[in-house]
Amino acid sequence: MIIQIIALKNAFRAFNFIYICCRAAIGAARNLQPMKHIAIFASGNGSNAENIINFFAGKASATVSCVLTNNADAPVAGKARRAGVPCLAFDRKAFDDGTQICRFLDRHSADYVVLAGFLWLVPGYLTDRFEGRIVNIHPALLPKFGGRGMYGMHVHKAVIEAGEKRSGITVHEVSRRYDEGRIICSVECAVMPDDTPESLAERIHGLEHKWFPTIIENEIEKLAAAE
Ligand code: GRF
Repeated sequence: MIIQIIALKNAFRAFNFIYICCRAAIGAARNLQPMKHIAIFASGNGSNAENIINFFAGKASATVSCVLTNNADAPVAGKARRAGVPCLAFDRKAFDDGTQICRFLDRHSADYVVLAGFLWLVPGYLTDRFEGRIVNIHPALLPKFGGRGMYGMHVHKAVIEAGEKRSGITVHEVSRRYDEGRIICSVECAVMPDDTPESLAERIHGLEHKWFPTIIENEIEKLAAAE
């Protein structure tokens, strides 16, 4: 009996040792993955951009290496500057042409693109180059309430006018058409009977800040694991 107990204890110790070794090996393998560099495109306030920058600060898996905006006066430019993240402001001509933008993305080793409140339709040179590695967040439950003109308060107004009981956020891949890429994840919230577009926008922003960085992190980890 005593011998059996000792054998059992030894077997347990050996199992424990193997388990710890496996976990250490998996952790080491993860650390060996090169860090991903996220480029954020944004047009306006940039609360999501700022939240994503802060979320990835100090993480080993990814970092926000640059921000790009089509509006030099947008608050997002100041937020990037204060966070020490290089920011490029471009105009329509540069966006359509692509040379300056691609050069900037190269300089900052961008291998993943996040649209966080970016209002212009993304051209083919970006969707091709970042195929499967470019995501957008939409402040409603796609495929409803998406497409051209569905941004900002227009979305929340449309949701309320349609009498929807639920709204939420949708993170999706970016294709050459507004809000039509593969849906990665959506998170729902209630639409209250007395909601205004502003109060609904505030609830949705809360969801975005809570979930968007984690969804990006999961996607990046999946990509890294598949490499
Ligand atoms: C967010 O509601 C996002 O869903 C939409 O644009 C808004 C950007 O907000 N695409 P902010 O500039 O990050 O505060």
